[in-house]
Amino acid sequence: AKRITVPQLRAYKNQKKIVSLTSYTAPFARVLDEYLDMILIGDSTAMVGYNMENTLAITLEQMAAHARAVVRSTQNVCVVVDMPFGSYQESPEQAFRNAAFLLKESGADAVKYEGGTPLAATTRFLVDRGIPVLAHIGLMPQYLNTMGGFKAQGMSDEAAEIIYQDALSQEQAGAFAVVIEGTAEPLARRITQALSIPTIGIGASPECDGQILVAEDIFNLTPNRIPKFARQFSDVQAAIREGVAAYATEVREGTFPTLDHCFGVKKK
Ligand code: KIV
Ligand code: NA
Repeated sequence: AKRITVPQLRAYKNQKKIVSLTSYTAPFARVLDEYLDMILIGDSTAMVGYNMENTLAITLEQMAAHARAVVRSTQNVCVVVDMPFGSYQESPEQAFRNAAFLLKESGADAVKYEGGTPLAATTRFLVDRGIPVLAHIGLMPQYLNTMGGFKAQGMSDEAAEIIYQDALSQEQAGAFAVVIEGTAEPLARRITQALSIPTIGIGASPECDGQILVAEDIFNLTPNRIPKFARQFSDVQAAIREGVAAYATEVREGTFPTLDHCFGVKKK
């Protein structure tokens, strides 16, 4: 099987749903690869993988290393890597340089970054130079300090209009799809109907052309309660607990390891 390309994903619009999760490391990526269309190396790894307060401090080098691990461990999915805070906002040139670094270091297919109309010129610059862009609008966690917290966006008509324009600007600028995070449902629905590129929702609308979630959020691997926009699809934490409890018991009781697990043991 050949890896799903960016133009193929874009052509899912009105054909089939784009099914996507985040993944940061090989063990997850290897499994998810068999079921998904797209994997995102999200900068959410700052919080989910490194237990940081927010996503702001993760570095370009860290994102590149995670992306490399995921690309090496997959062969089917389209791989998109998040550009971390501060690596693209300054100018289209800065964004291109750092996006190229990420793609060269990792072999990922595309980059994603947060921003609507203000980042449209950057998207045009990258796409014209060979770097596909997945836009991310609505709730943008890297804007935490200007937003004053994580809260649903586009709840007033005025706010919704700005986000609607963000979507149009990014489509116009050449983004191949748009992630819509944490917005009023009617807004996400309206954007999905208006755009000719796919929308990928997270806390957006069932009408979106695709869905993305943080894998840990649906496998019971986060310490926090499950966000409103997610659901527990399996309990990996319970499976790990069962395994680690059994292992600890056997090591303490001396039933593991046995000579079967040792080298140079004379067979009797
Ligand atoms: O970093 C991330 O995980 C994301 C997705 C949730 C869209 O940006
Ligand atoms: Na992100």
